[in-house]
Formats: sequence, C-alpha cells, structure tokens
Amino acid sequence: MAEKALITIGDKQYELPIIIGSENEKAIDITKLREMTGYITLDNGYLNTGACSSGITFLDGENGILRYRGIPIEQLAEKSTFTEVAYLLIYGKLPNDAELQDWNHHLTRHTMIHEDLKRLFNGFPKDGHPMAILSCLIASLSTYYQDSYDPENPEHRQISMVRLIAKFPTLAAFAYKKSIGQPAVHPINSLDYCSNFLNMMFSVPAEGYHVDPEISKAMNLLLILHADHEQNCSTSTVRLVGSSLANIYAAISSGICALWGPRHGGANQEVLEMLQGIKEKGWTVKQVIENAKDKNSTFRLSGFGHRVYKNFDPRAKIIKKACDNVLNKLGIKDPLLDIAKELEEAALKDDYFVQRKLYPNVDFYSGIIYRALGIPTNMFTVMFGMGRLPGWIAQWKEMIEAPGMKIGRPRQIYTGPTEISYSDAKKK
Ligand code: SDX
Repeated sequence: MAEKALITIGDKQYELPIIIGSENEKAIDITKLREMTGYITLDNGYLNTGACSSGITFLDGENGILRYRGIPIEQLAEKSTFTEVAYLLIYGKLPNDAELQDWNHHLTRHTMIHEDLKRLFNGFPKDGHPMAILSCLIASLSTYYQDSYDPENPEHRQISMVRLIAKFPTLAAFAYKKSIGQPAVHPINSLDYCSNFLNMMFSVPAEGYHVDPEISKAMNLLLILHADHEQNCSTSTVRLVGSSLANIYAAISSGICALWGPRHGGANQEVLEMLQGIKEKGWTVKQVIENAKDKNSTFRLSGFGHRVYKNFDPRAKIIKKACDNVLNKLGIKDPLLDIAKELEEAALKDDYFVQRKLYPNVDFYSGIIYRALGIPTNMFTVMFGMGRLPGWIAQWKEMIEAPGMKIGRPRQIYTGPTEISYSDAKKK
C-alpha cells in the first residue's frame, strides 16, 4: 500500500501522497495542498522544497555522492571528456563512437560568431566583468537566430543547444582578449573543444600557441566536474525563466547572472582573492578563520560550506588531488595552494566549522588550477559557467519536454499593511 502523509489542521485530517525517488529519496506531494486545506507551505531558501522530479543528476550530501545519469563523478572525471559528458547529460546516455564524432563535428562547426556580434564588444569598458559581458552576449545571440529558437520546436531546441555549447568558449575568449587589448582569435576547427578555447585565449597573431596537452586535460577535468549539480541556484533560475517559454538564450543568460553571485559560482574568484589577501596583506590563517566566524562580520570563508553537502564535496576532493598533479606536471610551485591547504586544515579542526558541517566545496581549490592554466581570476566564474552550460541545457530540455510543464509561479505569505484608503494613507 502506497505510503501517505497525514496532516492534522484543527479538527480535520488530510492525506497527502508520498513520492519515492529511484534512490529512495522521499517527498510529500503537496500539489493539492491548497485546494484541500487552503494552506500553502513556506520554506525560506527552499531548504526543504523540491521544485521538480529529475533524472539527470543525483547528489547525496550526507555521503558526498555525485552521479550524472547514474555514473559516479569520479569515473567520469577519470575516463570521459567534457563534450562526451555534455552529451550524456543532455541525451541521457553515453554516445557511441559515431554519435560522439557527430556531436563533436556539430559543436566544432558552430564555434564562430556573427561579425556584427563582435562589434558589441566595443561597447564594453575594458575592465567590464566578463560575467556581465557573457550574460549580455548569450542573450543577444537570440537576435541572430530569431527563426530558430522556439522552445517547443524540437529542431529549434537541437540547433540552439549546439550553438550555445559551441559559441560559449568563443565569446568567453573574445571577452578576455578585449579586456587585455589583444585582437580576438578565431576558433580553429582542427582543435578539440578545450584546446580550441585555450588557443583563442592565449595565442596572438605575432606567434602561434602550443596547447600543452596537460593543460587541455586539466581543463577537461574541471569542466566535467562543474557540468551539472541538480537544482542549484543558477539551474533553478534557468528552469524558472525557461518555464515562461522565453527562448533558451534568455534562460541561459539568466543562469549566468545567478551563477555570478559570491554565494554561488562567484565564490571561486572570491577564494583566490582571499588567498591572495592572506599572502599579500599578511593576514594569518587564524585571522581569516576568526573573521569567518565573527557574526558581526559579513566575511565568510569562501569555498567552504554547501547547502547540500554536509560532508566533503566529492568534486573538491578530486580537484584538490588534481592541484598537486597539474602544478607538478607544469613545474609550478604556487604558495596559494599551501595557504589553501593550511586554511582547510585549520577550519576542519575548528568547532565552528565542524558543528556546522562546513567543508571545502567545488570552488575552494578550482581557482588554483585555473591560475596554473593562465586563466585570469576574473574569468574563473566564466569557466564555471562554461562547465555548467550543458547541465543548464539538460535541465531546461528535461523541463520543456516534461508532459504538462507549467510556468513556475511560487506563492507567498503577505505580511504588509491591511486595506487602507488612498486618502488615509496620504495622511500618514
Ligand atoms: C556553489 O547549490 C549548489 O549545488 C551550488 C554548487 C553548484 O555546483 O551549483 O555546488 C556551487 O555555489 C558552491 C558554494 C559556493 N559558495 C561559497 O563557497 C560561499 C561561502 N559559502 C556560504 O555562503 C554558504 O555555505 C552557502 C551559500 C554555500 C550555503 O549556505 P546555506 O546552505 O544557506 O547555509 P547558511 O548560510 O544558512 O549557513 C549555515 C551556517 C550559518 O551560521 P549560523 O547562522 O548557523 O551561526 O554556517 C555558516 C552561516 O553563517 N556558514 C559559514 C560559511 N558557510 C556557512 N560561516 C563561515 N564561512 C562560510 N563559508
């Protein structure tokens, strides 16, 4: 007999269905709650509220588990490539060789951007943050594809997904080149996804650029680790915007804006600036820890804590290990890595962090590797967005294709003034 939830309000009792997921997660289905009881639920920050059912990514925060379409992140990190993981997330299965070749072929042939779009870069100030530029340019892509962005048309969905994944690195690299006053470098179709991006970032007309396979491999790993993370802030934003049937470019642009926040993807830039502060300003690890614990200070230990992981973030474990490998292979000794390890060790011994189950998250070590790859700090969150793009797209596609998909429209509990006339209000 299916389990039910019983709630008693006053002298009445109500039965609500229980939903059990494939990993035995349980939910009380409140779809009919207001109709049955006149009550809604309230859940600040959605700590206890599921917005949807999804078959894409599974997280177990207590046990530090992350799987994409059932495959453990540790195995994908070791064995897969970013474009293969993108296919897995979007289409729900690993591509066979022919499918992967066809997928990479399409991605490669949509890497260029319209010449008019390039002119938009001239309007941005040199020191404009690349996340602002990216969100603007991704939204403006829709102006070039007005004949093919109807979310309810499967062909339009397919070409728009390919265009977004293909053009994101080109736009990101162009934004970087603009910020350093160098000419934009066009994509080269003979290069793989990561090598193409690195070439657009670091080659100059005056001399060619050799893509170090170690650097390309490290970038692949980081993009895989960031590719999806179920209903996080930016993904929930993409779903909400997409639920109005706004086109996918608008939905992804809104996800980029949400990701930019320092509580979310912006944390990787904050972590590096925090580590640089410790090194350059002579802050001690103890000072940083005390500051992070001080309720009167808005400072938080960036890269620490997570809404879901109350144990190690499995991605942080993999990135921490990769830091040592990548820096050793590149012959780099980065004092910031030593500081990060000291900070982690101090925090994990401190009651404040232990009691609140605050562990390093994906953002704590990722910046060390981006720095080793030559990526500037203000581009770290752009790299997070490049990695998360297939996850946003997969979640958007799953929502759009779900039967009976409804526009997202949360309720509220009103706590403002009761009725007052204009003339009385004027007298106040
Ligand atoms: C990402 O959701 C996802 O899946 C996100 C992400 C993804 O892949 O999409 O994993 C990527 O965004 C990782 C998180 C990156 N952000 C940071 O590293 C910023 C620092 N972390 C915090 O701002 C915080 O931990 C959050 C935002 C990540 C989570 O916040 P919650 O779940 O709302 O928890 P909270 O703010 O209520 O904190 C609980 C307690 C509070 O103390 P008390 O009120 O109980 O005394 O822990 C404290 C907080 O003050 N706390 C911290 C802290 N994080 C939480 N104190 C100091 N330093 C921190 N980093």
